[in-house]
Order: sequence, then C-alpha cells, then structure tokens
Amino acid sequence: MSAEPAGVTEIVPMTAAHVDALMPYERAMFGTEAWTANGYRNELADTRHRYYLAAEGAGGELLGWAGVRVIEDSAEILTVGVVPSARRQGLAARLLDALLTEARRRGAAEAFLEVRVDNAPARALYLREGFAELGVRRGYYDNGRVDAVVMTRAL
Ligand SMILES: CC(C)(COP(=O)(O)OP(=O)(O)OC[C@H]1O[C@@H](n2cnc3c(N)ncnc32)[C@H](O)[C@@H]1OP(=O)(O)O)[C@@H](O)C(=O)NCCC(=O)NCCS
Repeated sequence: MSAEPAGVTEIVPMTAAHVDALMPYERAMFGTEAWTANGYRNELADTRHRYYLAAEGAGGELLGWAGVRVIEDSAEILTVGVVPSARRQGLAARLLDALLTEARRRGAAEAFLEVRVDNAPARALYLREGFAELGVRRGYYDNGRVDAVVMTRAL
C-alpha cells in the first residue's frame, strides 16, 4: 500500500463547491473529453444511481474526486482525478476503494470502466485495484482517434 499524503486527507461526499474547484483541473486533465460544471451538477443531483466523493487536504483544498454509477448489480466507474501535486500517494486508490465499497453496499456484484489506451497511469492504477482488461472499444475517444480499454472486476 502507498503511504497516505502528509497531513490529514479526508474523503467526503462531493458538493457543488468541489465542482467549482475541480473545473480547471478537469479541463487540464481531460481536454476535449472534459465534463462541464453543469454536467457535474447533474451527476450530483442523481443520488439514486450515482455516488461522488472528493478528497480534501488539511486546509480543505480539493486534492481529488471520483464517481460511480450503480444500476442494478453493475457499477461503472465514471471518473477519477487527483491534482498533480497530490499524485502517487495512494489517493486515487483510496477514492476507488470507497466507491467500490458503496457500490457493493448498493448491491453491485461487478464493476467496469473505460480508460484511454494511452493513459498508462490510470491503467496501472486499475490493474493494481483488481481490474482486468476485457477488451477494446475502437475509436471511443477524441472523435474516433483513441481507443478505450474496457476493464472489469468482481465486487
Ligand atoms: C490516474 C490518477 C487518477 C492516479 O492518481 P494517484 O492518486 O496518483 O494514484 P495512486 O497514488 O492511488 O496510485 C495507486 C497505484 O496506481 C499505479 N499508478 C498511479 N499512477 C501511476 C503512474 N503515473 N505510473 C505508473 N503507475 C501508476 C501504481 O501502481 C500506484 O501504486 P504505487 O504508487 O504504490 O506504485 C492520476 O494520475 C490522475 O488524476 N490522472 C489524470 C486523470 C485521469 O487520467 N484519470 C483517470 C481517467 S480513466
């Protein structure tokens, strides 16, 4: 296991204030695939099927976020992001674990996600979190230019 970030990092339910804080990171991290603030607000409003968490540093600053959608017995990881200064300290793994715990509590028996083939850090993260690569969706990102790897694991 990675060491936890220095100071107290708290995992809390994501709020509209976190959405405002994450938008600059979202655009830098996801480019043409970035979600809008309104998109996030709609996600947060759907508490029946979706569950979003944020990680805050000791001063309340946003360090990361992640979300899952649970429909019947299937959970889809929708997004995971960690701000550059807080990476490689186990934060994404903590966020994922918390999402998967909640998904299990809601009755999910399996989890899946899509990740860009060229996103080596995220693919390594998911492999380490017990996901296996199931197949490829051709041209899933960037207007058909970049493939997605579909990954899955039992819960
Ligand atoms: C992918 C991302 C969420 C990882 O966040 P993180 O908090 O740094 O990840 P963690 O510290 O929890 O890493 C857990 C494990 O994942 C793997 N991993 C994470 N980043 C990695 C990297 N850059 N290179 C290789 N392996 C990596 C390692 O196995 C790591 O364990 P270790 O540090 O003990 O070796 C982060 O790099 C990020 O926000 N990237 C931009 C957004 C993005 O691509 N999101 C995913 C979209 S599908």
